Amino acid sequence: MTKRIRKAVFPVGGLGTRFLPATKAMPKEMLPVVDKPLIQYAVEEAAAAGIEDFIFVTGRAKQAIEDHFDVSFELEYMLKQRGADGRLADVRGVRPANSRVAYTRQGEALGLGHAVHCARALVGDEPFAVLLADDLFLSDKPCMQQLVEAYDRTGGNVVAVTEVPREQTDRYGILDVGEEDGDMVAVRGLVEKPAPEDAPSNLSIIGRYILQPEIFDFLAEGKAGAGGEIQLTDAMARMIGGKPFHGLRVQGRRFDCGDKLGFFEANLAFALQRDDMAEGVRRILNDYAGS
Ligand code: G1P
Repeated sequence: MTKRIRKAVFPVGGLGTRFLPATKAMPKEMLPVVDKPLIQYAVEEAAAAGIEDFIFVTGRAKQAIEDHFDVSFELEYMLKQRGADGRLADVRGVRPANSRVAYTRQGEALGLGHAVHCARALVGDEPFAVLLADDLFLSDKPCMQQLVEAYDRTGGNVVAVTEVPREQTDRYGILDVGEEDGDMVAVRGLVEKPAPEDAPSNLSIIGRYILQPEIFDFLAEGKAGAGGEIQLTDAMARMIGGKPFHGLRVQGRRFDCGDKLGFFEANLAFALQRDDMAEGVRRILNDYAGS
């Protein structure tokens, strides 16, 4: 029996410099895809996988995230007065039912591994999920649900993986691939952002993880890795050989919303999924197709 995954960590302390000036005073995780902020997609995905504790590792200028997941009394009151029931339901639905939300601050932006380590006291001694809101998925089964189901079969650590073009290995954590069994890949090694010529494969980690709490001991050492940052990938690499460690080739489309084109494409893809928008978006695409 595996221990149930109840808690998820959302590292949201990053500066979002790639989206300046939009992110000068607004967290990048609040950028909307159609009409929902990136962070809300990640929270809904975690909730769909049965997660009840949402732990945000924030930083300076991230107040909007706390406000977003809080009750907005004035707004709810006003929408009720106006009889705008649909909008009221949208606002109330932001925070998953039966959930607990906790915030902790990263202080200094020392890397993803450092951010996850900041959640140590809130996670405690149990396996947990990590979701990076930059990675957005469009899939029949939510990505974290796929990961939880894989974890229920294998236990240990499970990360979402996908093939990336060789020339892009220096943007990702890359797997040294062991035995493969269907969509599961045994992880033999992990390297953070290797140059294409040094990369052990082109199978990359995409921002969804289920990790054992032992990771915190390795993160606590605070060793800097690629880019001078404390990398989650380096701490994960040190856990290989202990409990099982697998990559899951997840189903669905993944959008890199940390990148402008990826973010734009996500907006297009999600708008095309919407009954109230698809037709209009197709018309616009047709208009632009010739230019
Ligand atoms: C982070 C991780 C990297 C992973 C990527 C997925 O990198 O360090 O291992 O492949 O997320 O999006 P970042 O995008 O923060 O540079």
